[in-house]
Amino acid sequence: MNEFLSRRRFLRQSFAFSALTALGSLPSLAKLPSPHPGASHWLMVGDWGYENFTAQKAVAAAMQRYVHEHSLKTDALLMLGDNWYGPLPGGVASPRWTKQFEEMYPVGVFDCPAYAVLGNHDYQRMPESKVDAELAYAKKGGTRWTLPSRWYRFEFPAATPLVTVLALDSNVFHPMSDRAKRENFTLTPEEQAEQLRWLKAELEKLRQTPYLIVMAHHPIYSNGPHGDHATLIAEWEPLLREHKAHLYLAGHDHDMQHLEFDGHPTSFVLSGGGGADLYTLKIEEAQRGPYAAKVYGFSHLQIAPDKLTLLHLDTSGHVIHGFTKTPSGEVQMLS
Ligand SMILES: [Fe+2]
Repeated sequence: MNEFLSRRRFLRQSFAFSALTALGSLPSLAKLPSPHPGASHWLMVGDWGYENFTAQKAVAAAMQRYVHEHSLKTDALLMLGDNWYGPLPGGVASPRWTKQFEEMYPVGVFDCPAYAVLGNHDYQRMPESKVDAELAYAKKGGTRWTLPSRWYRFEFPAATPLVTVLALDSNVFHPMSDRAKRENFTLTPEEQAEQLRWLKAELEKLRQTPYLIVMAHHPIYSNGPHGDHATLIAEWEPLLREHKAHLYLAGHDHDMQHLEFDGHPTSFVLSGGGGADLYTLKIEEAQRGPYAAKVYGFSHLQIAPDKLTLLHLDTSGHVIHGFTKTPSGEVQMLS
């Protein structure tokens, strides 16, 4: 069983990571963000395609303001699943694509691919398969929506890649009633095993990039009501540990989190405040952290050769949490 880190203990450990870091010279959230020249900037948002899109609009507007105010050129958007709640009438031709994706995150601001993963709501039939529509929308061209298959790999930036991303489908098999089967589906046990074989093979490949990121909709660990995920803990977590993944990015719980575990090479980041109704946390950050908050927001990942910087921001554009991580795995919280 992993030992969790409280905020206080994490701070103490962060300080311990760098003997040369004096208290007064720690990077401060008040000074952030100060974009690293030549860094790649990615914004991420989870659980965003809600039918009532009042909150989605507020988060998307904050993302746009943030990009303008800091003169950022975003190289990627990460869409962390539950891309469509409720029906998607017309499937690939649904007007929701224009209203809640293309115009909500406009190309004039985010002129970059939007790498997507699939969430449990995407796996609902209403009555058609939204998963099929999302795959078809990516194939039709003329869009930033990027979902070449249910699980895929990309390296970025293309010219001199800094990061390897494995985008996974966390909708693992679980038994359902006949009625539930008509309305929902998951990976079959065979598909789940096939993805796991693929994941192991990809991780075994020689990696030239300094950073490894794994993204999927369901968190492996979460302080929110969905809690920790037994299947993902059994199947994926040992691989993240073995291959020293720097970040595991997820959504699903409608809040913002960052969890660290003693001796674990992976930082677990949850960015689920993209638009759907917020959830009340089950575990407070004082018990398991260093960060968990019931708040709408999005996240900014700055990727530079010497370090990753991950920031959570709210709808006012305030940085509410942040940390850095070096290629060798040294984590430092920004506070
Ligand atoms: Fe979800």
